[in-house]
Amino acid sequence: MLKQDMNILVIGGAGYIGSHVVKALLAHGDSVTVYDNLSTGCRENLFPQCRFIEADIRDYSALQAAMQDAERPVDAVVHLAALKAAGESMLEPERYAEHNIAGTIKILNAMTAAEVPFLVFSSSAAVYGEPQYLPIDEHHPTEPTNFYGATKLEIERLLKWYSQLRGLRYASLRYFNAAGYDPDGEILGIERNPANLLPVIMEVALGRRPHLQIFGDDYDTPDGTGVRDYVHVTDLAGAHILALDHIAAKQQNLVLNLGTEHGVSVREVFELAERITGREIPMAVAARRAGDPAKLMASSQAAREVLGWVPRYSDPETLLQTAWQAYLRSDSGIASVSGSDSS
Ligand code: NAD
Ligand code: WQD
Repeated sequence: MLKQDMNILVIGGAGYIGSHVVKALLAHGDSVTVYDNLSTGCRENLFPQCRFIEADIRDYSALQAAMQDAERPVDAVVHLAALKAAGESMLEPERYAEHNIAGTIKILNAMTAAEVPFLVFSSSAAVYGEPQYLPIDEHHPTEPTNFYGATKLEIERLLKWYSQLRGLRYASLRYFNAAGYDPDGEILGIERNPANLLPVIMEVALGRRPHLQIFGDDYDTPDGTGVRDYVHVTDLAGAHILALDHIAAKQQNLVLNLGTEHGVSVREVFELAERITGREIPMAVAARRAGDPAKLMASSQAAREVLGWVPRYSDPETLLQTAWQAYLRSDSGIASVSGSDSS
């Protein structure tokens, strides 16, 4: 299989990470169709050179139509579409099962029917659960502590079977904490109703939220606040290109962590954000958030060794700087937050 100029269906390509993946695929010379229901994704994130199909992954006939492109067969699918709020998944498991697990089964069946051979899947650090050692490598036990993580693990199990029984070649990429925005400023849609630390801080800095709550400052960490491994979305996007090239060229499956092996505390993020934005960020220490481990860090040795993946933008300064630029653009009206709440 030729590495370049593939015809790729990016499911969830209007979302935060998906739009960065689309940008990287286009730069790589691939043809891209975005398939997205715009539940959390934004129209602003659609690149004009891509075809767009507004549809849901629970709609099998729409998936079939998308994969059976009469003009040109789909060579690969990148599947990022999911519900992703860990806390919510514990309250609404049925919805998470429907979207994440049942939706993915429909994608896999449509891929089988259309003989699409390659898949890159957005998995998560959430498959591991409470860390038993750090940094977490791919051999770490997988015992998710929330239903969201369980859906990702279930899908990984399915991928193995579809590979064995149907010859699918896949890369399951276990992202740690995705953060930052396109350093070129071309991706304009920002996340809606975010719950993650960096976008919350950005919204506070812009005055869209009254204050930041730091969820616990009594953890067993150097400054008492939670430590995480933040990885820039542009670095994540680059890994998708490398992974797709790898599975196509080597006909091998991959399950890889994507993180930096570098932990940053909530307080460090907060202090850096005040410096970078030049604004005071009102903050209050609140109770711990249920289910939050003290520290999470990835070993990404495998991604480095197998793919030659080297994060370039994932230092805390660049993460915050690129995020702040995106939020400033959104505040100035160059971009706007959009999407509907269809589910
Ligand atoms: P996002 O919500 O911005 O992107 C998800 C996209 O999928 C959106 O455009 C949404 O409209 C679309 N979508 C959702 N459900 C759909 C459905 N049923 N049918 C069609 N389209 C649908 O989230 P994101 O942060 O870009 O996450 C992308 C993927 O990465 C998800 O699978 C998520 O679980 C995974 N992930 C994210 C992180 C993170 O830190 N953001 C970490 C690990 C894994
Ligand atoms: C980071 C740190 C919080 C918000 C989540 C998912 C995980 C993956 C990545 C999808 C923690 C603290 C946060 C706030 C805070 N996503 N925090 N105040 O929980 O590490 O990971 O996103 O796969 O599965 O669980 O990310 O950004 O929510 O939190 O103090 O308002 O910031 O306690 O220490 P998390 P996060």
